[in-house]
Amino acid sequence: MTIENKTRRFILLALTSLFGGFTFVGRAIADTRTPKAAEGPFYPTPSMRVPDTDNDLVKIQGEVEEAGGEIITLRGIVTDRYARPLVGHRVEIWQCDVNGKYLHTGDNRNLAYDQAFQGFGHDMTDDNGAYIFRTIKPTTYPGRTPHIHVKVCEGDRELLTTQFYIKGQANNAQDSLFNRLSAVEIDRVSMDFVEGEGGTEATVNIVA
Ligand SMILES: [Fe+2]
Repeated sequence: MTIENKTRRFILLALTSLFGGFTFVGRAIADTRTPKAAEGPFYPTPSMRVPDTDNDLVKIQGEVEEAGGEIITLRGIVTDRYARPLVGHRVEIWQCDVNGKYLHTGDNRNLAYDQAFQGFGHDMTDDNGAYIFRTIKPTTYPGRTPHIHVKVCEGDRELLTTQFYIKGQANNAQDSLFNRLSAVEIDRVSMDFVEGEGGTEATVNIVA
């Protein structure tokens, strides 16, 4: 190898490792993010929602009845990919009721909607980036495994739309959207329910 060729080879190697390094760092950061998922057809527009859109989907303000289904608490911390808490961000969830019916005019399946279920709610993250919801454990409906739809917004800007699944649910393996996820991604959107002081709860941290 001539000196010139050696130098050329050295520069090439240096560049490769330099850019290789950058690629690696870029991937390492991107990899921590919560995987995105389709919004689906049943995101309720503001006019479809009940006036109460708080973080307790089991209780509609002014109503006596609580929603049917297994009541759960869903909580977590929202951060950016540098692990900085996202404070004052709007977290939205929506899901079907205990009967598998959505609060959406487009859900025209012949099922009665549970009038005590809020169907959609939001929370604002606190100073630690924490969010919390009281809702029901998602149920199944034709073609999908149980899931909760989730959106994170900064003001009017949507940062993330995703779906959460029940860890270990038998139907997950038959779900086409679930099956697109890698094992690591599944972990990031799985609700691992445990019995806490306030009942059944799951913690899912979000990297938006
Ligand atoms: Fe859905």
